[in-house]
Amino acid sequence: MRIREDQVYEIAGIGFGPSNLSLAIAVREHPSNIPERPVTAVFFERQPEFGWHRNMLLPDVTMQVSFLKDLVTFRNPVSRFGFVSYLHQAGRLPRFVNNQDFFPTRAEFHDYLEWAQACFADQVCYGSEVVAIGRPSGDGPAGCLRLEVRDAAGAVRVVHARNVVISTGLVPRMPEGVKRDDRVWHSSEFLERFNGADRHELKNVAVVGGGQSAAEMTRFLYDELPHAQIHSIVPSYGYSLADDTPFANRVFDPEAVDHYYFATPQTRDDFWRCHRNTNYSVVDSDVIRDLYRRWYGEGVRNTSRLRFLNLTRLTGVKRAGSETRVVLHSLLDDEIQELSVDAVACGTGYDAMDPVHLLGDLDRHCLRDDSGQLRVSRDYRVLTTPELSCGIYLQGGTEHSHGLSSSLLSNIALRSGEITDSIIHGLPDPGR
Ligand code: FDA
Ligand code: NAP
Repeated sequence: MRIREDQVYEIAGIGFGPSNLSLAIAVREHPSNIPERPVTAVFFERQPEFGWHRNMLLPDVTMQVSFLKDLVTFRNPVSRFGFVSYLHQAGRLPRFVNNQDFFPTRAEFHDYLEWAQACFADQVCYGSEVVAIGRPSGDGPAGCLRLEVRDAAGAVRVVHARNVVISTGLVPRMPEGVKRDDRVWHSSEFLERFNGADRHELKNVAVVGGGQSAAEMTRFLYDELPHAQIHSIVPSYGYSLADDTPFANRVFDPEAVDHYYFATPQTRDDFWRCHRNTNYSVVDSDVIRDLYRRWYGEGVRNTSRLRFLNLTRLTGVKRAGSETRVVLHSLLDDEIQELSVDAVACGTGYDAMDPVHLLGDLDRHCLRDDSGQLRVSRDYRVLTTPELSCGIYLQGGTEHSHGLSSSLLSNIALRSGEITDSIIHGLPDPGR
C-alpha cells in the first residue's frame, strides 16, 4: 500500500498478527467510522506477507481455543469476518459441523486469518518494521507520534499518527547462555531450520521443554525422521496436562479481565498460582496420548528411538567444529551429563511482549508501578505524564494488569473493540 508521509493517521498499528487484524476489523465496523469522516488506520508488519507462527504449523496440530474465539465473534457475532463466514465462503460449513470439533487445525485457522487479512490490503504495509516511536521533529505536525518504519531494503520512512497500537507478539526465550545457530533452534524458527537441514544428517536430535511446543516438535521429529533417535529433555517427571476444563477455562472469559484488573496484588498472585496450568508448561491431552502411544509401541517392538530424559534441564550447549553437545542437569540424581546431537530444538517458551525498545525516549513519559511494570488503564492505554497526549495502546504485554488472556486469542475480539472505542472517543473531531 502507499503510505502518505504528509498525513497524520488516527491509528498506526505496529505488528499485524491476529490482535491488530482484529483491531483493523473493529475499526472498519465501528459505527462512527463513516465514509464522510473515515477513521484513518494503517498497519505495519515486518514479515513479507501475513503469517501466524508459521514455523510451528506442523501437520495436524490443532488450535487451543474454540473457533468461536475468532477475530470478531465475541464483539460482533454478525460480523462478516467470523470463522463461520469463512467456512461458509470456503464451502466447508456442513463438513466442519459434521466433525463436531471446536478446535480446528492451526493450518485451517491460518487460512481463515489469511482470508480475513486479504480485505485490508489497502491498510497494511508488509515487509515494514517499525524501529522507533518518538515525538515529531521540530517542523513535524503537532499532537501526534512519529514512527520510523524500515522496509526490506533498509530504507527508513517516517509516518505520523495520533495513536499507536503496539502488538508485536511474544519474544522467543532460549535457556540462559544458549545462543541460536544452524544446529541450535528455538521452536519459533523450527520448520524453517528443519527444512533447511539435511534430514539424513539428523540422526540424533534433542528437544528441550515440557510445554506444548516441545511436545509437538518431539512428535513431529519422531514421525518425520524414522532413522533418528529423539531425546526429549523434560524438566518435570512427565508432561503435565493443559487444564481446559469448563470451570478453569472461565479464567479466559471477558469478565475475568475485570476481575483480574481490579483485584488486589494478592488475588492476582492467586490467579497465577491456581491457573498457570491452563497455558504454561502444559500440553494438550491428545498430544500427550500420541506421544505415550509411540513410546509404548517402542517397548513392544523392543526399540528405543524415542527417549525421555525426565526431571532434566538443559544448562548449556557446547559447539566444537561440527559437533554439538548439550549439557544436561538431572534433577533426579543431581548429575551433569553431556549428549552429542546433530540438532537441538528448544521449546523453552517466550517472554511477554515488551514495547520498551520501541518506545525509546518516550519511555520516560510512561508511568510504571512499584514493580517497574508499565501502568496500563483498563482500555489498554499506557498511562503517561500529561506532556504526552497521544495514545499508546498495548495488545499483549499486559499480563501483569489484565491477566492470563493477554497473550492469547481468547479475548482479542473484545479487546480490539475496547481499544477502538477508546481511540475514537478521544479523537478531536467533536462531530463523531
Ligand atoms: P503475533 O505474535 O501473532 O503477531 C505479532 C506480529 O508483529 C508478528 O507478525 C510480527 O512479525 C510483528 N512484529 C513484531 N515486531 C514488529 C515491528 N517492530 N514492526 C512491525 N511488525 C512487527 N493462543 C491461543 O489463544 N490459541 C492458540 O491456539 C494459540 N496457538 C499458538 C501456537 C503457537 C505456536 C504459539 C507460539 C502461540 C500460540 N498462541 C495461541 C499464543 C499467541 O500469542 C496468539 O495466538 C497470537 O499469536 C497473538 O496474536 P498477536 O497478534 O498479539 O501476536
Ligand atoms: P511454555 O509453555 O512456556 O513451555 C516452556 C517449557 O520449556 C517449560 O516446560 C519449561 O519448564 C521448559 N524449559 C525452559 N527452560 C528449560 C531448560 N533450560 N531445560 C529444560 N526445559 C526448559 O512454552 P511453549 O510450549 O512454547 O508454549 C507457549 C505458548 O504457545 C502457550 O500459550 C502455548 O499454549 C502456545 N502454543 C500453542 C500451540 C498450538 O496451538 N497448537 C503450539 C505450541 C505452543 P519450566 O516451566 O520448568 O521452566
